[in-house]
Amino acid sequence: MSDPAPPSDPPKKLYIETVGCQMNVLDSELVVAQLRREGYELTDDLRQADTILYNTCSVRQHAEDKVYSALGRIKRLKDRKPEVRIGVLGCMAQKDQERILRRAPHVDLVVGPGQLGRVSELLQASQDEGRPQLAVSLARNAGKTLEVLDSFPTFDPDRVASPEPTPQGSSPHQAFVRIQMGCDKFCTYCIVPSVRGPEQGRPPDLIVEEARRLVGQGVKELTLLGQTVNSYKYKHGDGRISRLSDVLLALHDLDGLLRLKFVTNFPLDMTDDLLQAVRDLPKASRYLHVPAQSGCDAVLKRMKRLYTVTQYDEMMARIRETIPGVAVSSDFIVGFCGETEESFRKTVELVERSRFKNSFIFKYSPRAGTKADERFADDVPEADKKRRNTELLAVQTAISLEDNRPFVGRTVEVLVEGPSKTAGKRNEADPDASSSASGVSQMTGRTSCDRIVVFDGHRRQAGHLLPVVIEQVSAVTLFGRVVTTDSHPAPAPAPSPEAALR
Ligand code: 5AD
Ligand code: SF4
Repeated sequence: MSDPAPPSDPPKKLYIETVGCQMNVLDSELVVAQLRREGYELTDDLRQADTILYNTCSVRQHAEDKVYSALGRIKRLKDRKPEVRIGVLGCMAQKDQERILRRAPHVDLVVGPGQLGRVSELLQASQDEGRPQLAVSLARNAGKTLEVLDSFPTFDPDRVASPEPTPQGSSPHQAFVRIQMGCDKFCTYCIVPSVRGPEQGRPPDLIVEEARRLVGQGVKELTLLGQTVNSYKYKHGDGRISRLSDVLLALHDLDGLLRLKFVTNFPLDMTDDLLQAVRDLPKASRYLHVPAQSGCDAVLKRMKRLYTVTQYDEMMARIRETIPGVAVSSDFIVGFCGETEESFRKTVELVERSRFKNSFIFKYSPRAGTKADERFADDVPEADKKRRNTELLAVQTAISLEDNRPFVGRTVEVLVEGPSKTAGKRNEADPDASSSASGVSQMTGRTSCDRIVVFDGHRRQAGHLLPVVIEQVSAVTLFGRVVTTDSHPAPAPAPSPEAALR
């Protein structure tokens, strides 16, 4: 541990940029919390920063290119201010290791996702020793299973000890809680099992303790995170096994918690106990993200997804039968090795019959170190990948719009998140706008089935459940107005500046 900074020192400024998934957003929050305890303050101005961190993603080449070009851009800044510490954290750090230092010698810190608890110590060491610090976990085949596991220590207990909430960027009423680390599925296209290590379920009592702390601090919505969150298992000392449905049940009782979600699901592990828990627990969001990746058996086999299209269809039927009003979303990779026009058509058909709320569609990006990259040629031309991406997105968008239309006229229960992004922009453009002065703002929230709802409201409605009647829809958003009845009075408008003067 370093000595505490003398009181006269100005606070050190931290700039952090996060690329990638919700796991990374959570990791960044935890790193920020760690450095805050060391006296750092956040800044969004690179030029003010003493420490610049990039929390990176390796899932697709594009995400890596973004970080390497950001590193290129800040080289001049480092030349002018050599005392600035520059760090590369997360998946790309684990994947590229010292190659990052060779490509960007001005980097001081390379820290894999399994080593993030050491960022503050490593920053100090890079300063004291005047040389770059590299902290990564073992490769999956570099030791016995237990040794590899040990090299991915859990970073989250750190948060349980944190005296303050650290929701960063998102609403203070929402928080992520990791319940599972790593992944053991080894889909052939995916780098995640190598960079995030073996699958490990966190002990349920630690999860509940962390959730209780967050809810005590005002968090209303918890999102449980795991690469295959529904495969979550924890074996207790007495041999008992806790599953995701048990964790949901335990968290559901937390007073003050309004909503509970979990991402991402693996199709084969979508068990009945889980679906029944989502059906029976009122706080559970009626929303499931279950990536299909492709609608063609031959492609699924090459991807080593372990299920067939028929099995995926059966799972969808079971989900819809068990949970009325559920919304399902999916991920797809287009242009995977050997994907023919015919296989792509099968994916289009799967999207058409599954009626997802939305789909995330990605062009296949070969990743060094994966089985697909070793075994199969990346043989779908870029132009075809692009065209398939656009076409599949258009099919999905039409379905999303069609399925949103029946919401018009219906009243939905919305958990309010905060001012919508466009409202923020509007007020930036016109800082004197009466809307911002009176607190009336365009607000955004979500229904239990995870649909985004935008309505005119007040900032202080954030974190509350409100009935909203839907008046208009687009493919991604429902637009409505807060229902005011005797049992649900609209909150009194904030006094206008003139009223406050009277
Ligand atoms: N290329 C393109 N997309 C990928 N994904 C994972 N690996 C790759 C890759 N190599 C997608 C999958 C996954 C999502 C998070 O990213 O669809 O579900
Ligand atoms: Fe990657 Fe497959 Fe694991 Fe998801 S389940 S993280 S796609 S290996």
